[in-house]
Parts: sequence; C-alpha cells; structure tokens
Amino acid sequence: MASLTIRKLDENVKTYLRLRSAKNRRSVEEEVRVILRELIEGREEPLTPLAAPPDVAAPAPTSQRTSALPEASVTLIIGGGIAAYKSLDLIRRLKERRIEVRCVLTKAAQQFVTSLAVSALSHERVYTDLFDPQSEFDAGHIRLARDCDLIVVAPATADLMAKMAHGHADDLASAILLATNRRILLAPAMNPLMWNNAATRRNVAQLQRDGVVLIGPNSGEMAEAGEAGVGRMSEAIEIAAAAERLLRPPVPRPLAGKRVLITAGPTHEPIDPVRYIANRSSGKQGFAIAAAAQAAGAEVILVSGPVDLDDPDGVTVKHVESARQMLEHVQASLPVDIAIFAAAVADWRVANEGEQKLKKTSAGMPPLQLVENPDILATISKLIGKRPPLVIGFAAETEHLIDNAKSKLQRKGCDWIVANDVSPATGVMGGDRNTVHLISRKNGEIAVDSWPVMTKEQVATELIAHVVKSVADKSLEPAS
Ligand SMILES: Cc1cc2nc3c(=O)[nH]c(=O)nc-3n(C[C@H](O)[C@H](O)[C@H](O)COP(=O)(O)O)c2cc1C
Repeated sequence: MASLTIRKLDENVKTYLRLRSAKNRRSVEEEVRVILRELIEGREEPLTPLAAPPDVAAPAPTSQRTSALPEASVTLIIGGGIAAYKSLDLIRRLKERRIEVRCVLTKAAQQFVTSLAVSALSHERVYTDLFDPQSEFDAGHIRLARDCDLIVVAPATADLMAKMAHGHADDLASAILLATNRRILLAPAMNPLMWNNAATRRNVAQLQRDGVVLIGPNSGEMAEAGEAGVGRMSEAIEIAAAAERLLRPPVPRPLAGKRVLITAGPTHEPIDPVRYIANRSSGKQGFAIAAAAQAAGAEVILVSGPVDLDDPDGVTVKHVESARQMLEHVQASLPVDIAIFAAAVADWRVANEGEQKLKKTSAGMPPLQLVENPDILATISKLIGKRPPLVIGFAAETEHLIDNAKSKLQRKGCDWIVANDVSPATGVMGGDRNTVHLISRKNGEIAVDSWPVMTKEQVATELIAHVVKSVADKSLEPAS
C-alpha cells in the first residue's frame, strides 16, 4: 500500500484534514483512512461534515464507479482530427448501451472539441495532461489504462497510431495505450493519402499483429473540399456497436429456435381434499435442466409438480399437482423439438378419492384402492405425428439401476434414459448432487455412458450439451 505523506498535501487540504480530525477526535492519518473507507463504500458524505475552506479545489465529479459498478466501462481517447466532433456522439451512443465512458483528449484534440463539452456529455472529468498533479498523485494514467474494460481511440490519428506502433509514451494518450492490459479498439480517421501512406500501412499492420482491433475507416467524402476515398472515421453508432461486441461478446445459443419441454418435481395424488400421496422428488434436477436449455437459447416450457423452487428466468412454467394434470399440460405444449421427462410421476393414484375429508371411524381404516396413472413418457414416446424428435426419460431406481433403465428404454419407446440411483444412501432425492448414466441406442445396441458424481447443475449442462450435439448431428426438423 502506498503511504501518504501528509506534509506534501496542499495547505488548504491539510487545514481541512486537521479541522475534521480534531472534530472527530482522530489522528489526521486515521481521518484519511476513514475518508478513503467512506469513499470506497460509496457514501457521499466524506467532505460534507465541515464546510471546506473556500479555496479547496473542488473534488473531481464522482462517478458511479464507487457505489454501483457499471456493466462495462471504456476509456475513450480522442485524437486530434476533424472527426473528433463525432466522438461527442460516440460518448452518447456508448452511454445509451450502459457503458460508462471516461475521456482523454490529446493536446491536438482540444483544438477540435472542448473538455467542457466532453465532460458535460460523459458526466466525468476529462483527462488531458500526463503531468497533472491532481490525477497523478496515484498514477492516474495507469488507472485510466487499466480501470476500464476497453480502450477506444476515436479518432485514431495517423500520429497516434504511429506512436502506438513504436511504443511511444510522451503524452497521456500514448502513455495509457502503452500501459494498458485491456483490449484496444481504434477508429482511424485521416485523409486518404495519409491512410495509404506506406508508413501508415506499416503501422496499421504492426498494430493488427499486436492484437489491436480496428473499425473502419470507411470510404467517402473528406472534410477537405473535393477529396474522397478511404479515411472517413466510422460512424459513432458503428464504433459503439464494435465496442459492445468486444465488451459483451454474443453468448452461443445453440438451441435457438428449438422448443424444449421439460417436466420436473413430484406429483401429488389426492386421497381426499386435504391428503395426498407424494414422493421425495425436489424438482432440482428438472429445474436445472430447464435453466440450462434456456441458457442454450431454447424456448423452454417447464411443467412442474409441487416444488419449493423459484421459477427459472425466461422459462414458461406450468404448475400442476397430479399426474393427469401433468399429462394434460404436456400434451397442450406439443409440438416440441425435445422433450425431457425428469418428473417423478406417481405410478398410481387413489381410485376412490374422497370428496370430503375422510373421517376416522370405528369401522377401521378407509380402504384405499389404487389405479395406474397415465404413463407420460410412454404416451409421448409412442405418439404418431406429434412425437418430439428427441424424447428423454429419467429412471429413478433403487436397485438394478442399469438393467432396469435399459428395459425402460425399450418398454417406453423413448430415445434416451437418464438413470439415477435414488436409494436413500445416495442422497439424490432432494439433494444437490447426482450420479447418472445416459442410456441410448447406438448402431442397434444399447450404450451406457456413466458420468461421474456432479452437481445437478453440472448434470443439466452436460445433458444439454449432449442434446445440442444430437440436434447438430440429426438436424432435428423444427417443431411445427
Ligand atoms: C485542421 C486539421 C485537421 C486534421 N485532421 C486530421 C485527421 O483527420 N487525421 C489525422 O490523423 N490527423 C489530422 N490532423 C493532424 C493532427 O492533428 C496532428 O498529426 C496531431 O499531431 C495529432 O495529434 P494527436 O495524435 O496527439 O491527437 C489534422 C490537423 C489539422 C490542423
């Protein structure tokens, strides 16, 4: 940690610190620590308890960086070219995209746009000088170089690119560009003759080898009367979009355009209006699969029995109680491209469900007669016409796991079975981890792929990765 020598502070700052520390009965050093802590914790109060002496330099406008971290931030270096006026629009375009902007103006840039305009648009102080004591007391050029997610140079003049290509650092802009470990996006802007000059061509080639990204220049009319060619700076909107692509690269969405139906949780089979038969399924595995499918870009419909889980974001959730309701909602959700039946559906329900709460009587226990519930997996697997191209069932077994799962695959007519051992000792029912075996058919044989113990989220991600691969291999026809 750098230690601060109080002696070196301005007289008025020292006076302020002495007054404030005396009032708070702290040492000056302790007071500085408190001020820093308050500043870092985002409280706005550090300089307010005492009126600052009139000649204390106003603090630099505080950005939101201290209180709420922005989604992304850019250090924008504005070079000295005619196109600098477009950078004012660029600041606005970046801010529209919730990208925080701190600006650096080269000496030449200040001939084209004013610090005042840039500061007013960025809502930040503007940096212009490498040897600025106000920002250099803590190596401000290093902060500007690294305390951001991306550096954008617009306009990138021929001069700035030459400096970058040769590692110069004799002003604030070039020192930042040399000191950064962030990606750099350049928007060159210059006369076509400058752009085509052999020196500029060499510098551009070198910068590209160094990993610098370029946007433009475009071809068109120049500011100079009668001149046209390649050299116009890209429009602000194009530069902002390029910055956003670097800051927030598009997430792969391999299941985009696919409709995925998932069931999860237990079912509750009523005995009477207040009692029911249930099982220990928590729904965690099915919900994790729904979230993973959604993250892969699919449109996801989740039909869930009674669970104590929040609906996953971006997923259409249909809450049901019984197996019959679950089947109804599953059928109503067709057609789908992929169906994954992870629910622990009760095999039986009470045939003689009481319309009123069953009473204890001297006649003994009420006779509960069970009837078989509809088999959702088999019903959907054997559909003609609306059968989803990929149907995956789950087998929860407490013994002979693989054998039972293999015969379930054959019996039900589904494409894959995810088999998991739910004996109490495994802690799978209601727990956060699962050990599964993926049973499928390969070249007429039944193949077993045993996965190591994983969290239910990891099982979900792995299963969806297999689905993505199968979709790519088989090119599933879109559900219609
Ligand atoms: C009116 C005028 C317009 C200029 N326009 C450009 C330009 O578009 N691109 C460029 O590379 N240089 C341009 N220059 C030259 C730069 O301003 C000059 O090379 C300067 O040193 C660049 O400084 P900087 O790279 O530190 O911003 C222009 C100069 C003048 C006087």
